Amino acid sequence: MAKVTTHNWLCLDEVDSTNLYAKRCKVPAGTVLLATRQTAGKGRDGRHFVSREGGMYLSVVRGDDLPIAEAVKYTYAAPLAVWATLAEYGIEASVKWPNDVWVEGAKIAGILIENELSEGRVTRCIVGIGLNVYNDLTEVPCAATGLHMLGVEAEVCEVAKRVVGKLDLYLEMDTQSLLESIRPVTLNIGRMVMLADGTQGVAEDIAADGRLAVRVGQQIRYVAAGDVSLKEELC
Ligand code: BTN
Repeated sequence: MAKVTTHNWLCLDEVDSTNLYAKRCKVPAGTVLLATRQTAGKGRDGRHFVSREGGMYLSVVRGDDLPIAEAVKYTYAAPLAVWATLAEYGIEASVKWPNDVWVEGAKIAGILIENELSEGRVTRCIVGIGLNVYNDLTEVPCAATGLHMLGVEAEVCEVAKRVVGKLDLYLEMDTQSLLESIRPVTLNIGRMVMLADGTQGVAEDIAADGRLAVRVGQQIRYVAAGDVSLKEELC
């Protein structure tokens, strides 16, 4: 039977960033921070994440205490939780490696995972998820969509509860099963990608350690997030 995990929910009207708040206030593991809007939402690679009212901005603070090699589980479980939640609302989404979620050529969710390390282990992990629900997307610097735009009139709190419940379930799975779940819904696989050095190749697979396996001629090169972009970049 599926394990039921209890969380303490902390709902904030406005915050700079739920991830920053979790770190600054040393929020204990088991807490979910949910904000109505963020004034300094953090994206990956130091980017700003536009977070107008009406979106779901949450950070789940986990204390699984995993060896570093297993922390890749968060990278797979978080987008799968969003993907599965959207599926429940009848929305067919894809994961853009490593962990964005896209629908019909537009981004619907972004994920920022921040690990705290001690002696080779991830002692605390902040899984930050931003999902567009009915927030204004005009300032978002790439093609974006949200649940209401797709005809789903869901409430932010309800969406958040579903995402967190699914995250718990996916994190119960082992890394191999997570990989097998994410591969078929990853949109990069089979597409042309550009490596940081300008080389082009075809993304063939996601490796066990979470890197993208890219075929360049006869060779397979394994690349980390940040070292590769889709050839026809979407965002
Ligand atoms: C990205 O698309 O680059 C990642 C965006 C991650 C946004 C979420 S919203 C909740 C949490 N708090 C933040 O400041 N960032 C993450």
